[in-house]
Amino acid sequence: MKRTKPLIVGNWKTTPANLKEAINFVKSLEKKLTALKKKSINAYYFLAVPDIFATSLIPFTKYGEIGTQNINGTTLGQETGITTPSMVASTGITFTILGHSEVRARGEDLHTLSQKVTLSLKAKLLTVLCVGESERDKEGNYLHELENDLKEILANVDRALFSNLVIAYEPIWAIGAPVPATTEECFEVVISLRRALATLVGIEHAKKVSIIYGGAVTEDTAKSFLIDGGVDGLLLGRASQELKTFTTILESCFKN
Ligand code: 13P
Repeated sequence: MKRTKPLIVGNWKTTPANLKEAINFVKSLEKKLTALKKKSINAYYFLAVPDIFATSLIPFTKYGEIGTQNINGTTLGQETGITTPSMVASTGITFTILGHSEVRARGEDLHTLSQKVTLSLKAKLLTVLCVGESERDKEGNYLHELENDLKEILANVDRALFSNLVIAYEPIWAIGAPVPATTEECFEVVISLRRALATLVGIEHAKKVSIIYGGAVTEDTAKSFLIDGGVDGLLLGRASQELKTFTTILESCFKN
């Protein structure tokens, strides 16, 4: 859904080192956001944290939501080490990232990813589905690749569930890189993804889907993606793992 408020999602990846640090981060973040509220800046965050920390962090959140970075299974049964979307949702976790390129690189196939998206949406988790090209070619074939990826993953997903779907455009070449995509590069892909979604599910369902950008966003570039990049929010890696940077970004994005 085209948001009136930006959707700022942090992806903590494999940090911090322990639960105590994670709790201290969230407590300090909440303090900062209370201070911002006094200045009439109503910032709100989403933090995708290591699974093992997630439920312990929920009690400390007032201005935020705690989510996971992946869900590793789909069905109940006799499988060791597997968690399903409905199990995740039953704990108070409200969102998840799915299909991050770092997860796909470990062998996640599109069929499984598509199943996870369906079950995650059915479990009422806000579902942040990542797509992104590994490289760009002059002919623009990467746009077709992104479109096909989206089609394969979403082909069988119930349209009625789309209001809880978020697409994160994360060009793989920008993840962990020194500089992000330009806002023009981002805008071009956002238009292309919106068109692909409209073709796939019709304009009314497509309009319900938020699109956010991720990949080397910093405090200097965050707001420009919201203004010129055509996105509804951001997916931050490193910038969400440092308290000062994360709060600076939240402040700049929620300030009028
Ligand atoms: P960086 O912001 O560190 O480049 O990571 C982006 C990312 O992968 C977020 O999911």
